[in-house]
Amino acid sequence: FNKIGIIGAMAEEIQLLHEHVNVTSQVTKAGITYYEGKLHDQAVIYCKSGVGKVNAAVCTQILLDLGADGVLFTGVAGAVDPQLNIGDIVVSTSCVQHDMDCSPLGFARGTIPFHARSEFEADDRLIGLASAACDRLFPGRSLKGKVLSGDQFIASRETVKLLHESMGGACAEMEGASVAQVCDMNEIPFVVIRSMSDKADGSAHVNFAEFTVTASNNSYQIIDDIVRHI
Ligand code: ADE
Repeated sequence: FNKIGIIGAMAEEIQLLHEHVNVTSQVTKAGITYYEGKLHDQAVIYCKSGVGKVNAAVCTQILLDLGADGVLFTGVAGAVDPQLNIGDIVVSTSCVQHDMDCSPLGFARGTIPFHARSEFEADDRLIGLASAACDRLFPGRSLKGKVLSGDQFIASRETVKLLHESMGGACAEMEGASVAQVCDMNEIPFVVIRSMSDKADGSAHVNFAEFTVTASNNSYQIIDDIVRHI
């Protein structure tokens, strides 16, 4: 990779990038600041997208236009797979927008009508690097799976059950599938790394407040390890 793009949605999710990247230039477009520099001798460009799919889509296209030829997403998510505990890590195998719903027209939930595909596959090599990082740094505390994205903070056990059992999700968040779709449309490899801040249940808002910093930092450790070995 000539330049790795790294995106987090919230301040906590990019805090350790601010602390570790040797930033040499920055540019602001559409209200998002992109920081360029080196992380372990690898050229990187990172930014805070803001929350939700529109912010993430705009951010990703600009990141690619600024020359990123691979994209890593780092951040927190609500656990949907019952095997996952707070702090555990999901490496995306693919991403789907769970709130894309044209079922009255006969499309399965998550299907983007008339688009090439609706499930966006992460890059095999980036998945491999991420899994190896998880095994080194958080043994037994990660899984590879489908990341579900929507413009909703999930905080109910019924929704968790639907997202896991009907849609096969491992975790729920609000940006990954949007980043993934933009990367797919530009034929750029990506992977999403998410550490669990909560279990997307009735306690999610409390757990999110308590564990977002720890989970964000767990996710950063994986990004850092990927960049070291890329
Ligand atoms: N990000 C972290 N926790 C989440 C949740 N429960 N729903 C959506 N996005 C999240």
